[in-house]
Amino acid sequence: MNGATSKKVSVRDLDLSGKRVFVRVDFNVPVEAGRVADDLRIRASLPTVGLILNRGGRPVLASHLGRPRATSNKDFSLLPVAQRLGSLLELPVRFAPDCVGPDAEKASGALASGEVLLLENLRFHPGEEKNDPHFAAQLARLADAYVNDAFGSAHRAHASVAALCSHFRPAAAGLLMEREIDCLGALLGNPARPYLAILGGAKVADKVGLIRNLLPRVDAFLIGGAMAYTFLAAGKVPVGSSKVEQANVPVAAEILESAARAGVKILLPVDHRVAPSVEKPGEGELVSGRSIPEGLMGLDIGPETAAAFAREIAPAGTVLWNGPMGVFERPPFDAGSRSVAEAIVAGRALSVAGGGDTAAALGRFGLAERFSHVSTGGGASLEFLSGLILPGVAALTDRS
Ligand code: 3PG
Repeated sequence: MNGATSKKVSVRDLDLSGKRVFVRVDFNVPVEAGRVADDLRIRASLPTVGLILNRGGRPVLASHLGRPRATSNKDFSLLPVAQRLGSLLELPVRFAPDCVGPDAEKASGALASGEVLLLENLRFHPGEEKNDPHFAAQLARLADAYVNDAFGSAHRAHASVAALCSHFRPAAAGLLMEREIDCLGALLGNPARPYLAILGGAKVADKVGLIRNLLPRVDAFLIGGAMAYTFLAAGKVPVGSSKVEQANVPVAAEILESAARAGVKILLPVDHRVAPSVEKPGEGELVSGRSIPEGLMGLDIGPETAAAFAREIAPAGTVLWNGPMGVFERPPFDAGSRSVAEAIVAGRALSVAGGGDTAAALGRFGLAERFSHVSTGGGASLEFLSGLILPGVAALTDRS
């Protein structure tokens, strides 16, 4: 671990007894037909909420949900989240229909010991995304102490994670925030070797910063998913009608050259599972060899690639996995992601997964618990691993 969190004051260091504690959480979860469809992020914040309750504090939880563009809209209400949180905590969770103003102040003032309050969506107010100091001052009236457990939102310089911190000394990290920084920070330190980064998902553009930052650190990149076709195209391999980001073919070519110069292996698919299109997936034909015939689209890595990746993964000391190997939501195009996940958990490596799709794939395969850490951050984990400073981490108080 790189000790990054030891630099920040922790929720564990606070005197919480009798205090109302503003806890910025990331409860930006999928809600379908008024019910939470995936509660990973809610469960991930339970240790922090539990610690505050055990120490006699009164948690006032705040989050955004979706991108409602600053209008109150019941499709973006956190009320279903309050219900799910209540059943996970086995406690009634009070819900304030606004996150600032007289009703919110009354609700936080009336909060008794052992009770939890969840505020309505922060993004119903334009001040949140504008990092507006006046909006932050309104939020500050709701609590006596501040904890940020929203690692997934730490890359946003928004009022509840940035401007609000200046109202509280210290502004502390929650347990999830600490764990994320420790686990992801370890990947930027000097982790056990061989160190592999397995990358997939749709876009090369999203991963360029991460690849450049990890290039001097890893022993190999294993690349699958749609982004692999851009890399194959950069190596002049025909890929049929697979998705290629033409604008990023030169970037992929430059990465291939830099990796070769640095002695870092890049493994690309050597066979594919294909279909005429995503809309017409059919049975998922296998194509051996690196190239894909005209009229066919690669939708997953093939079994030879999965076996080659597994051979690389078996002796690894550290594995970062970000991005699925194929269209994992549609069998049989889940096979590549499943075999990579199985190979990782069969080994002894420190295993860290990042990105919403990767977490969803692991949830679907029932393998999330067997990873050392599954990050709750999508964009935040990519920015962190790209070496960028996250505003929500920078705003927390350093230990003196
Ligand atoms: C996420 O889901 O990545 C975070 O909650 C941030 O959401 P945003 O991209 O809408 O800011």
